[in-house]
Amino acid sequence: MNANTNKNQVAIVTGASSGMGLGMTQALLEGGYRVVATARTISDSKDLKPSANLVLVDGDIGKKETAIKVADAAIKHFDRIDLLVNNAGIYMPKPFMEYTPEDFEKMIQTNVGGYFFVTQQVVAQMRKQKSGHVVGIATVLVDQPLAGAPISLPVITKSTVPAFSRALAMEFVADGIRFNSISPGIVDTPMHANDDHEFLKKLSPAGRLVKISEIVDALLYLQASPMVNGENIRVDGGAHAGAKW
Ligand SMILES: NC(=O)c1ccc[n+]([C@@H]2O[C@H](COP(=O)([O-])OP(=O)(O)OC[C@H]3O[C@@H](n4cnc5c(N)ncnc54)[C@H](OP(=O)(O)O)[C@@H]3O)[C@@H](O)[C@H]2O)c1
Repeated sequence: MNANTNKNQVAIVTGASSGMGLGMTQALLEGGYRVVATARTISDSKDLKPSANLVLVDGDIGKKETAIKVADAAIKHFDRIDLLVNNAGIYMPKPFMEYTPEDFEKMIQTNVGGYFFVTQQVVAQMRKQKSGHVVGIATVLVDQPLAGAPISLPVITKSTVPAFSRALAMEFVADGIRFNSISPGIVDTPMHANDDHEFLKKLSPAGRLVKISEIVDALLYLQASPMVNGENIRVDGGAHAGAKW
């Protein structure tokens, strides 16, 4: 599947400087989308350069002022917003008893605030259009925490993403706005650059990491499926089923 049927549509991708966000941004641009890509210092990106179809906005997505800047950029440059991908996120594994108030605030601000504030700004525009789609990136660890992996705070914060999608899907169904999420298994991105990939592969029932292109495929499927709403798609080689994970 490709995004070629979506010419002239406008997307916002958060966390677009790296990994899945970068891959999704590049796929949407290739498919003819106009894109606002954001991350803390995305203007330094070696992979993305501003163009007629690409606007880069720097800022911490957990802050309301960044959310306002991002939505304003889309409306100013492209007049509308068809798709918001709430992808920005951080992963901080640590034994539960060792998390500090600063860790808690940072994780909540990025993984929960990073969805909340920009979605508010974008929905204001989508309501005027009477159309739009918001896709969040969760994690399959929410369904199947892993024995031996101390990940309570990532799980607590990311468990909000499918919940956001279901709640908002119902709140805005009459406005023609859809909300879905994707729960990846372990994806081969810079987030795992310093991890032992052979060990990570063994955690997957499929015996390999998820490719960024497989997350892109799920995004394009959701975007092309008007009757899929409030859904969470797991792209994890079956990890959520509990075979090996
Ligand atoms: N990789 C995996 O195995 C995996 C599995 C399940 C879910 N996920 C989730 O998938 C999403 C993408 O992960 P990835 O593996 O592609 O990670 P990544 O390569 O580390 O990229 C994370 C992106 O988020 C941005 N970001 C982080 N904190 C931010 C903040 N406060 N404000 C704005 N942008 C911020 C980063 O940009 P800057 O640092 O430049 O700001 C970067 O663009 C994350 O939400 C992650 O939790 C990943």
